[in-house]
Amino acid sequence: MANELTVAVLGPGGVGGLLAALLSRTGHRVICLSGEKTAELLRTDGIRVRSDRFGDFTARVEADTELREPVDACLVTVKHTALDAALARVPAPLLSDGLLVPFLNGVEHPAALRARYRPDRVAPAVIRVESTRVAPGVVEHGSPFAEIDLTGTGVPRPRLDALAEAFTAAGPATRVLEDETAALWAKMSFLAPFALLTTRYGLPLGEVRTRHRDELTALVEETAAISRACGGPADPAQALARYDTFPASMKSSMQRDAEAGRSLELDAIGGALLRAAERHGIPAPVTARVVGELHPSA
Ligand SMILES: NC(=O)c1ccc[n+]([C@@H]2O[C@H](COP(=O)([O-])OP(=O)(O)OC[C@H]3O[C@@H](n4cnc5c(N)ncnc54)[C@H](OP(=O)(O)O)[C@@H]3O)[C@@H](O)[C@H]2O)c1
Repeated sequence: MANELTVAVLGPGGVGGLLAALLSRTGHRVICLSGEKTAELLRTDGIRVRSDRFGDFTARVEADTELREPVDACLVTVKHTALDAALARVPAPLLSDGLLVPFLNGVEHPAALRARYRPDRVAPAVIRVESTRVAPGVVEHGSPFAEIDLTGTGVPRPRLDALAEAFTAAGPATRVLEDETAALWAKMSFLAPFALLTTRYGLPLGEVRTRHRDELTALVEETAAISRACGGPADPAQALARYDTFPASMKSSMQRDAEAGRSLELDAIGGALLRAAERHGIPAPVTARVVGELHPSA
């Protein structure tokens, strides 16, 4: 293959497993980074994907417990709650010129990564997908869509373009966006009200947008004001209208985590929103109450 990349995937779960399998299927060299048990399993069985959109297939991948050689890019696809521990598997000097591409939801992790790795090689991505790691090495991609926005202040454009091209050829249509802040806040503005309220009430989107419409509206407006103050987009009417187009049964991944008793990315989403509000002096009383109800010590 002409432009074969070597890509590490830190945390081969719902997002990481899907991307690892798709990239490997297209001919790129993929090294998954995980705990020893998962690494062993991936080495022998590969990653099995079930997807209406991309088909059912098994992809062979390499797997290790830490990065041991330079790569073109390292995708970071762990949850926030595991980020610090997982990064120990990626020594900064070894990554050196390689891109570090976090797919995490939230707005604060790029700064944390730039403090640890070469700042002009940190290229945050936003992914719109529903993909679940049902067992180690087994991924179910449930959404008819899978799209990526790739960005990265200061990252050389040709490096972003090459990776975007590889993703698009592998499956998920990928755009390169110039404005990192806008890209991250656009996702946050949509996600935060939806995740916080579906989790708070344990209800799917359909019931949240009817039974808790006032709170949803307030959260959307507060989030938009915070986003605007941070340099992101702000269109609360459009955000509300968008929720109305989604299936009533839709659940957020935070809500699924709560249902399964897993730890929540509450600090990365609700906590980050409140910290940004505080920094910019934006009132966010409904957000503060809902975050507090989800986690009394937040
Ligand atoms: N899933 C989606 O559809 C989706 C959509 C948009 C955005 N996101 C965002 O993408 C991020 C990842 O979510 P996800 O749903 O893909 O999570 P996930 O399915 O839970 O996958 C996370 C993976 O990280 C691994 N991991 C945990 N600790 C690790 C460590 N110390 N070292 C190496 N690997 C470790 C887990 O390993 P084990 O398999 O051993 O547990 C798991 O495979 C989150 O920020 C999420 O909000 C997800």
